[in-house]
Amino acid sequence: MPQHASKIVDPCEQEDRIQAFKTCRDYSLTLCDSLSPEDHMIQGAPFASPPKWHLAHTNWFFATFVLEPLALEPSTPSSWKTLFNSYYNGLGQPHARAARGILSRPALSDIIQWRMQVDDQIVKSLNADQFNPEQLQLIDLGLQHEMQHQELLVTDLLYSFSLNPSHPIFNATPAPLHPAAAKVEWLKFDGGLIEVGAGDEGFSFDNEHPRHRHFLEPFVIANRLVTNGEYQKFIDAGGYLDAQWWLSEGWDTVNREQWRRPLHWLDQNRIFSLQGVQPLDLNAPVCHLSGYEAEAYARWSGCRLPTEFEWEYAASRQTPEIRPAGLSDAMNQSGWFGSVWQWTQSAYGPYPGYQPDKGAVGEYNGKFMSSQWVLRGSSFATPELQQRLHYRNFFYPADRWQFTGLRLGKTATSP
Ligand SMILES: [Fe+2]
Repeated sequence: MPQHASKIVDPCEQEDRIQAFKTCRDYSLTLCDSLSPEDHMIQGAPFASPPKWHLAHTNWFFATFVLEPLALEPSTPSSWKTLFNSYYNGLGQPHARAARGILSRPALSDIIQWRMQVDDQIVKSLNADQFNPEQLQLIDLGLQHEMQHQELLVTDLLYSFSLNPSHPIFNATPAPLHPAAAKVEWLKFDGGLIEVGAGDEGFSFDNEHPRHRHFLEPFVIANRLVTNGEYQKFIDAGGYLDAQWWLSEGWDTVNREQWRRPLHWLDQNRIFSLQGVQPLDLNAPVCHLSGYEAEAYARWSGCRLPTEFEWEYAASRQTPEIRPAGLSDAMNQSGWFGSVWQWTQSAYGPYPGYQPDKGAVGEYNGKFMSSQWVLRGSSFATPELQQRLHYRNFFYPADRWQFTGLRLGKTATSP
């Protein structure tokens, strides 16, 4: 079991864990409050899973990794074990990712009932102190897993909604306009030998370990995120038409996909968002960029993307080492957390001495350490318990349906 997946709450504080469990599980359903049964089914692309599948898969995780080894009810119907397995080959061949949208059965009501049964069993067993420390760690992992899917549910649905010409609205509460963006200030760091990665305090995924030393050359990093208005200048300057700014794979992608602006920009002045069609807020952080677009913008600006370790070191100097409570604020212009994920130039790979968790759950992170880039920080859709300094998000550099933007960095010049 996860050697490093330490607890969300102190094991002595069982009441806190029960409350965290209930809050997290309820939130998944609350997220879907405004959705119709038909909305729960849509899969706009192979990568954009339907809400119903997210609800079922997160439940499958608890049923499979927590309840089944202990032979606790409810037992999972055997076909469901395949349908809602995402990518755990150690547990059998999963149902095809691209075909999650055809799963009209089991019905949504069956999935919700199944979730209630699993919730009841886990809360009952927690109250009876029936789980050993390893099983409690798996529950905590299951909660962090569910939080990841809560954000994915939103980004996937936004993508699927974006394909509907009637422009469905997910959230009827208008998004406030951002205040005028302050002039960029460059935060300067001397570099040197630093320590990066998660320690033993609080929850962390296996890919954040081990904590280790890393050498940084002197660098500077922007004190805030790049805005829509700034990115618009790159578009106006012909950035999407000029190969000199692009990595070769990025340039191929731009031309193949005919990209001319970030995803969900309907034109230069309007975007499709969770609130439906909205005017482009020039002061908001630019969002829905691929890694290629973030990299090209940085190059055009005479800058570069920071490395994940520059980002971590700089962020640690701006925020407490612990989970940055209170920073989950999309209007927070510095935007280290709670605004948009920030692309880094770092390839997603193992830290020195990395060991995946044991058993099937070891497939969680390690097997994806190929051809992806690391993103740091968190977005406005990231649950607050998941906003952590050492968290390593990762996507392919062509991906842009997540809430992804950028912060500029530069190698420091000599004084
Ligand atoms: Fe998952």
